[in-house]
Amino acid sequence: MWYIILIPVVAVAILNVVYNWQAGHCHSQRRLDGKTALVTGASAGIGKETALDLARRGARVILACRNVEKAQRIADEIIKESGNSNVVVREVDTSKLSSVRHFANEILKTETHLDILVNNAGIPGSLRRTLTTDGLELTMATNHYGHFLLTNILLELLKKSAPSRIVNVSSVMHHYCGKLDPEDLNFEKTSYNFFKAYNQSKLCNVLFTLELSERLRGSGIVANSLHPGCVRTEINSKVGGLFGFMLSLPQYLISKDSKLGAQTSIHLAVSEEIESVSGKYFVDCKESTCSKLGSHRGMSKKLWLASELDVKLEPHESILYTS
Ligand SMILES: NC(=O)c1ccc[n+]([C@@H]2O[C@H](COP(=O)([O-])OP(=O)(O)OC[C@H]3O[C@@H](n4cnc5c(N)ncnc54)[C@H](OP(=O)(O)O)[C@@H]3O)[C@@H](O)[C@H]2O)c1
Repeated sequence: MWYIILIPVVAVAILNVVYNWQAGHCHSQRRLDGKTALVTGASAGIGKETALDLARRGARVILACRNVEKAQRIADEIIKESGNSNVVVREVDTSKLSSVRHFANEILKTETHLDILVNNAGIPGSLRRTLTTDGLELTMATNHYGHFLLTNILLELLKKSAPSRIVNVSSVMHHYCGKLDPEDLNFEKTSYNFFKAYNQSKLCNVLFTLELSERLRGSGIVANSLHPGCVRTEINSKVGGLFGFMLSLPQYLISKDSKLGAQTSIHLAVSEEIESVSGKYFVDCKESTCSKLGSHRGMSKKLWLASELDVKLEPHESILYTS
């Protein structure tokens, strides 16, 4: 009888070893002295490891986080581990447009340049459809709208600092969003569920990247998106309850740790060989194929226009505002 338990345990262990063995690594030795990098959601998981790596390379690193106390503890750890004291915490809640506007405008006032923007903060989605104070669906607000607005406001500084890079952390789950209605991004007409909301928000990350790269052609700013892999982080445990536990299970069976999970973000932020690559989707530090919908130029345009309206983007806020 013992082998009924042993065989799956061994099989999972072997799969886990293979999964980690084939995972991509960023091999770039590039230093970032004199450069500034901003990472949203750097108080945990993939964002924290990305920030640590960029700090080790000598960059000034801004941890853009909603929980300042937690983020300051992480900043102190990063300073200790990297020996780089130029690591600061700034408060932003990507689910709140007023917070994003305030934060981004402070960055414009206080930073002389911005070389790397990593849009990493994310939530798995809420179990029930929840609206933010701006009337946006919470998962979409946190994972898409907040970063859409933030990036637009910071473009002026990124352009001034060119060559500069934007890295959007998406997910393989975007493949499971089979259709997107730009007129119903907040699930007002169609039914809501947890998976739909997350998958849609991650498809929006891919489409936003595509449209950004087209609009930024010739500007010296590149934008790429990525799937980090299945990574052991806090993300699914934040869902809570039995459902959160069930979601977290794969993360404890076949998965990477956060350091390995951050490699593709780091690769896109620093590697020399992709300096001029833009609008692409990466997995394991290699260019990969996103979903058919994720590469649909007509859809990326429609999403951009709908997002401009939903975040009430003002003409003076973005060099890419659709006039
Ligand atoms: N882990 C995976 O297997 C996996 C797979 C595919 C894609 N991803 C993507 O990878 C990114 C990072 O996720 P992770 O796995 O590292 O998760 P995590 O450990 O939960 O970290 C998420 C980070 O985002 C922050 N955050 C959440 N909501 C925010 C808000 N409203 N405003 C500002 N910051 C907010 C969190 O802040 P707090 O510390 O305050 O909670 C935390 O710093 C996400 O975009 C996720 O979709 C992850």
